[in-house]
Amino acid sequence: MRSALPPSTGTSPRSSNSWPPSPPCSPKQYGFAEQIGALKQLQDEGKVRHIGLSEVGVAEIETAAEVAPIAAVQNMYNLATRDHDPVIDYTAERCIAFVPFFPIALGGHAGPDSPLTAVAKAVGVTPAQTARAWLLHRAPNMVPIPGTSPPDHLKENLHAADITLSEGQFRRIDEEGRGAAYGSQGGMTNPSTSA
Ligand SMILES: NC(=O)c1ccc[n+]([C@@H]2O[C@H](COP(=O)([O-])OP(=O)(O)OC[C@H]3O[C@@H](n4cnc5c(N)ncnc54)[C@H](OP(=O)(O)O)[C@@H]3O)[C@@H](O)[C@H]2O)c1
Repeated sequence: MRSALPPSTGTSPRSSNSWPPSPPCSPKQYGFAEQIGALKQLQDEGKVRHIGLSEVGVAEIETAAEVAPIAAVQNMYNLATRDHDPVIDYTAERCIAFVPFFPIALGGHAGPDSPLTAVAKAVGVTPAQTARAWLLHRAPNMVPIPGTSPPDHLKENLHAADITLSEGQFRRIDEEGRGAAYGSQGGMTNPSTSA
């Protein structure tokens, strides 16, 4: 039986005769604007309708918007993670949808002991709904992902859009959530209210 390997050349394994052969070329690196340009080309060809970006700052959105209209931005944002406040304000001013991923901190804001509990009880809804209502109250362009598996949670999450928070409730959640920290189970605790 013939070997699948090439005959030994007696040269260094790193020589041009080495096995396996090197790839014919290394992947080309494309700049950010060039990548958006490729999406714009697909849009012009009718292959994509809208272009969205994920985990970007204001400067990147501005760069992209010079090449193509940007319909949506999906960044991590929830009560405890507010790094993208400037992006929310920027996109709201330009009618670009802001889609917060991890909107309830992987379920950390859904628990009965979350910092949202008191307001949730006052409103007569669940903490998970209150976390989403807070997001929807934060800006008019906010589109939180109702990420869940069971249908009853999906229904519950969708109803968050029907909840109206008072300014006082919004501010309370806003402040208490900011001081919250992740607990060991991935849930959230508020140092000022937990034992
Ligand atoms: N663009 C990006 O880079 C990026 C990165 C990560 C994630 N994402 C997307 O973001 C979306 C949301 O992320 P995520 O689902 O991981 O975060 P999430 O919505 O903050 O948390 C989801 C967790 O919350 C629980 N949960 C949801 N609704 C609940 C309710 N009403 N009561 C109690 N628990 C509830 C879920 O459990 P149950 O299933 O039991 O309800 C699940 O464990 C996903 O679609 C994901 O694909 C995008």
